[in-house]
Amino acid sequence: MFRLQTPLPERYATADPDALEAMIASARAELGPRLFILGHHYQRDDVMRWADARGDSFQLSRLAQQRTDADYIVFCGVHFMAESADILTGDHQQVILPDLNAGCSMADMADLESVEEAWEALGRIVDTDRIVPITYMNSAAALKAFVGRHGGAVCTSTNARAVLEWALGQGRYSDAGPQGDQVLFFPDQHLGRNTGHAMGFTEADMRVWNPHLELGGLEDADVKDTTFLLWKGHCSVHQRFRPAHVEAFRATHPNGLVVTHPECAHDVCELADAVGSTDFIVRYIDEAPTGSTIAVGTEINLVHRLDAETPEKTVVSLDPVICPCSTMSRIDQQHLAWVLENLVDGRVVNRITVDDDTAHWARVALQRMLDIA
Ligand code: 13P
Ligand code: SF4
Repeated sequence: MFRLQTPLPERYATADPDALEAMIASARAELGPRLFILGHHYQRDDVMRWADARGDSFQLSRLAQQRTDADYIVFCGVHFMAESADILTGDHQQVILPDLNAGCSMADMADLESVEEAWEALGRIVDTDRIVPITYMNSAAALKAFVGRHGGAVCTSTNARAVLEWALGQGRYSDAGPQGDQVLFFPDQHLGRNTGHAMGFTEADMRVWNPHLELGGLEDADVKDTTFLLWKGHCSVHQRFRPAHVEAFRATHPNGLVVTHPECAHDVCELADAVGSTDFIVRYIDEAPTGSTIAVGTEINLVHRLDAETPEKTVVSLDPVICPCSTMSRIDQQHLAWVLENLVDGRVVNRITVDDDTAHWARVALQRMLDIA
């Protein structure tokens, strides 16, 4: 999705790190408790050090919701995260994304128009009342609203299994679930596939829906027979990790541990010792035995920070050719200083807002998730 960030004024674009530090520290002090800065785990260190709270995407929105005294929530993360924060926070709170070009390429792989087209096409083959749409937190507010309107729910990488069990009327959620026969899961095929496997399903129960092809590239029979319709979306950062990386690490570190994010492909997650969200990874490293060497399949800023903050353990990237999330990296001290100094001057720049109707239905979908998990 194209978003336009205006070029920064010279004062910020050319400032050296010391000057930026002074600007941010002074603006932060001036704004006091009216300001709450959130830092997603993938933020670079020079931004993260200013964060009042660190966390995964959903945790941060919940923290913003709890900080009712903060008028300005500056979200150092990506666009869908700032939207979620706006949906969950009060009307008096304004959410700001320091760089409007900080999107998420995976979230952008599913837009409302293509999902509505898919829903309509599916409706010509099967009864869509029996399909439960589930969207990953990494999606636009419009898609969260879509699932809210159609009886579905949002999920995070932590609770995807509970939400999918609910959708299919399984497990301990069978009384509360909508007992669907099928799920349409977007935008990340890997999270959907990894979760389906964890629930005991196989590849035979899953089909990939390619939004660029007629009927998703499927035959009518595929659409009728499959349990999981997995949107053809992926995260380019996590898709880089390959089974060969796990094999190479295990060959050099026979006692080493491997932990991956569920946005990695299934053949990689299958070989890992543990799979979970960014928050899970942080806890996994914390709880690993002293002296252990752990290879992590996720974004590099988090891997480096975990290594630096855990001197008694060695934390390395599963892929030696490091890969940062380029959109997360768009948030830098220059943009942070710019939004904060504007706030001091009484101007809110880069505010992220979600319209009332979208926010209402997105909240319905988020609430379903909270009720389930
Ligand atoms: P978490 O929800 O685990 O923080 O993941 C967000 C993300 O963008 C992972 O690529
Ligand atoms: Fe999106 Fe991937 Fe970046 Fe996460 S790491 S914000 S899924 S592009």
